[in-house]
Amino acid sequence: MKLQICDTVNEAAMATAALVVEQLRNKPASVLGLPTGQTALAIYDALVGLHRAGRADFSQVHTVNLDEFVGLCATDPRSFRGFMEQQLFRHINVPADHVHFLDGDVRDTERECARFEKVIADLGGIDLQLLGVGRNGHIGFNEPARDLQLHTHRVRLRLETRRDNAGPFEGRVSDVPREALSMGMATILQAASIVLVALGSSKAPAVASAVSGRISTDKPVSFLQLHPRVTVIVDRAAAANLPRAHAESNPRRHASESLPRRK
Ligand code: GLP
Repeated sequence: MKLQICDTVNEAAMATAALVVEQLRNKPASVLGLPTGQTALAIYDALVGLHRAGRADFSQVHTVNLDEFVGLCATDPRSFRGFMEQQLFRHINVPADHVHFLDGDVRDTERECARFEKVIADLGGIDLQLLGVGRNGHIGFNEPARDLQLHTHRVRLRLETRRDNAGPFEGRVSDVPREALSMGMATILQAASIVLVALGSSKAPAVASAVSGRISTDKPVSFLQLHPRVTVIVDRAAAANLPRAHAESNPRRHASESLPRRK
């Protein structure tokens, strides 16, 4: 596992975007696994800036998103699909039919989850999975539980997760869907490489679980310790709970450029 501790959010976002650009340079037709959330926002700003600067070409890329709320249609701006359209897809040159999403607004969610697993398998699997992490250690919407699910599935969201996702619902937790569809742990862990990005002190315990300590279904992010190609990119606040040895054995690298601004 590689650990990169950055001074600022912009530096972390640029470092992450740089890994995506490197991936696209090595394999222009990469399958990118993508997250939503505040952390992702900074990364997508960086990617859009690099695309506008002619340094990131998505014309052959396929994207698969981690999760979606149950009961929201794709055109609902509060859906994860809506988030992705606004923050990334409409600003880059990924072909519309290369964007793959879970549809949370279907009657048969079990069938939808199976369809999504097949889409990923037919694409040959995920080359690079970008991940955020919930404060409670969830990845995608794989919530802490006694048992974790391997494959894409329907999940009941915890109250703290609904609270953390209330932003697009004008802060009204009661409006946040109670359920979601999410890639499973194996869907995520089968990605060829994974980049976990976490910013801010509220993520410090989750980051510590990602990097070391007990692997437990209480902290789904801890399973990343088993993956052979994980990069963890954090700011100083999110690194606060890391064992000293980790922080010291992974000297901070500075991003060579600042985050390009969205026009
Ligand atoms: C949601 C998403 C996760 C994401 C998490 C963190 O719960 N399902 O995939 O990692 O939010 O979001 P944020 O970056 O806003 O803290």
